Amino acid sequence: MKRVCKVLGIVALAAALCALAPSAQAAGPGATPTFTRDVAPILQQKCEVCHRADSIAPMSLRTFEEARPWARSIKARVESRQMPPWHIDKSVGIQEFKNDRSLTDEEIQTIVRWVDAGAPKGDPKDMPPPQAWPNEQGWLLAKLYGQTEPDLIIRSTPWTQKAGANDTWWKPVAETGLTEPRWVRAIELRPGTVKGRKITHHAIARLQQEDPEFPQNADQDAGSLTNTGTFMEWAVGKQGEIMRPKSGKLMLPGSKIVWDIHYSNGGEDITDVVELGIYLYPKGQEPKHRQVLHLMGATNAGGVDIPPNTVKATQGFFALRENGRVESFQPHMHLRGKAMSMEAVLPSGQTVVLSYANNFNFNWHNSYVYADEAAPLLPKGTLLKITAWHDNTAANRSNPDPNVWVGYGDRTVDEMAHAWVNVTYMNDEDYKAELEARKARRAQRTTEQQQQ
Ligand code: HEC
Repeated sequence: MKRVCKVLGIVALAAALCALAPSAQAAGPGATPTFTRDVAPILQQKCEVCHRADSIAPMSLRTFEEARPWARSIKARVESRQMPPWHIDKSVGIQEFKNDRSLTDEEIQTIVRWVDAGAPKGDPKDMPPPQAWPNEQGWLLAKLYGQTEPDLIIRSTPWTQKAGANDTWWKPVAETGLTEPRWVRAIELRPGTVKGRKITHHAIARLQQEDPEFPQNADQDAGSLTNTGTFMEWAVGKQGEIMRPKSGKLMLPGSKIVWDIHYSNGGEDITDVVELGIYLYPKGQEPKHRQVLHLMGATNAGGVDIPPNTVKATQGFFALRENGRVESFQPHMHLRGKAMSMEAVLPSGQTVVLSYANNFNFNWHNSYVYADEAAPLLPKGTLLKITAWHDNTAANRSNPDPNVWVGYGDRTVDEMAHAWVNVTYMNDEDYKAELEARKARRAQRTTEQQQQ
């Protein structure tokens, strides 16, 4: 069947029919999905990274016995797309990401039909072999560069999360100790210990530095945020980040790392640090393109003005003064955050939706990293338009008080309305070359697909 589908694949209608056709493995539209045959493979791929011992989720979902008691809750969470945490609208904007962990519509339907059928186990012989989870304690990227360790390791100040304590946001600051500018080619972040992994919900390392080339705009006087962009984020399943070819981040002398670590309850007293490992380009091999993280959107105190019992949209614009490739999108709002979009207003006047996070959840600070061939290439003069929606009504279950006015501020009961966006800059010549190269690769892929 699979082969036939491939041959017919060039005809769209046939492809759609093939997608519905039963494969040897999965249950067809009529058959009842079982845990061992249909559900376990999905949980292995999309859930176990967090739902296993020593990771951040409250329960393991590795076996039928573990998953069965949660069946109703699993259905509710996957149907509403709250799990896995991935909040990008599937019907608009770019859909190819490097770090996509969302479920497909088919996967959701399989889980829902399994639960509706009474969550049967199925034939034990169908159970896929257990997923092997790598020991994530070592420095994973060091091998790539023939090293045993990163070039620079920076640690947060230790924190003890007491058993049963409320969630904590820990924000110590550390010096990088650099005395000359250095280019970064990869970054890796990890909790210090296995137990630390249990309490570290996520960790963000921000790079703070005085940057003459990219000074903060006067209208972006964002207080504590001034020039402090996300350098690296640790979220489960994402440990390292390698810069795209020929590009890197520049660290300057006197720079600091500002941590923002979200610790949650681990059921016992646990003390840990988070470690940031930085891999530098050797001197003399500096990359051609500089990647800069920008704060875009409404970024000053006057820019956020949310009346009580209202859903409010707030907009901000960022002008690209040079051609660039937009690498990632990380919406940032607090408890009343509801949704955020990023659009590109091209010099021609045409507006294109790049991404829309329609289901924002303050607990999950996802950075959506575009796939290599999907990261938008935009000419200078493009305006990036960030729209944030805040829901300050009682309908928002996270809202601590719908009857108060909310303005800009650092506390979770205040609000913010910006995105962190990585841009890699290119001069006209490189930009044209990159556009051409991408066009050629696309044509090549189309030809290959037609030949299959
Ligand atoms: C990135 C980590 C991560 C991934 C991936 C993930 N989860 Fe979760 N899940 C969590 C955390 C942390 C919680 C507890 C906090 C919360 O409820 O948001 C949770 C909570 C849940 C709950 C609610 C438990 C309760 O107390 O009622 C369900 C059900 C669930 N997850 C199912 C899934 C399923 C099914 C998948 C895969 C399709 C999945 N999760 C993928 C981290 C994750």
